[in-house]
Amino acid sequence: MDIRVVKDYEEMSRVAAEIIARQVRHKPESVLGLATGSTPEGVYAILADKFKSGEVDFAKVSTFNLDEYCGLPESDDQSYHTFMENHVFSKLNIAPENTHIPDGNAKSLEKECASYDQKIAESGGVDLQILGIGIDGHIGFNEPSSEFSDGTTIVHLDESTIEANSRFFIDKTLVPTTAITMGVGTIMKARQILLMISGEKKAEIAYKALKGPVTPLVSASKLQEHPNVTVIIDEAAGRLL
Ligand code: GLP
Repeated sequence: MDIRVVKDYEEMSRVAAEIIARQVRHKPESVLGLATGSTPEGVYAILADKFKSGEVDFAKVSTFNLDEYCGLPESDDQSYHTFMENHVFSKLNIAPENTHIPDGNAKSLEKECASYDQKIAESGGVDLQILGIGIDGHIGFNEPSSEFSDGTTIVHLDESTIEANSRFFIDKTLVPTTAITMGVGTIMKARQILLMISGEKKAEIAYKALKGPVTPLVSASKLQEHPNVTVIIDEAAGRLL
């Protein structure tokens, strides 16, 4: 793992955006795995600026998002479809037909999981996967478990995740309790992974994920076994490393 400790959220976002821009310049038809949450918001804003100034062109890029809530309409303010539209798709020139987000409202969620993994494979696989981390160590929505998930899967959200994500909802009872997520196995197939970690609240889990034992109780710890991971972590989150 290439662990880079940077000063703060702004620097983390700048460094990460430069890695993504370099990837797209190097391979214009890159397949990017994208994340939602507060962590990548700064990166997406910088990429929007880079696109505006003509520094990078996303016309041939394809994207696959990590996850989506189940049972929340795509048009809901808090769906990851809406997040992506607001922060990424309306700002960059990615062709709409090249963007993919799992359908948390599919009639058969089981079929949706299988077909999502198939679409990723058909695209040639993810070149660069962007990740944040949950306070319980989840990547995507892969909650602590007795074994690492393999392909895209349906998960029940942990109480701590519901609590953490309730900050975006009017009421905690409105936070969905299930989600569809790329599995840890799906994520591990990406050729390169960029994990971003920011803030004091993430310090303990960052230590467990990066320096602790590889265990399905901390999904992100599996990344220690990936051959090409860059971690960009700010000083507050990295204080225990
Ligand atoms: C969410 C998402 C993850 C994200 C994580 C951290 O629940 N499913 O993909 O990385 O939690 O979110 P944040 O970046 O807002 O701390």
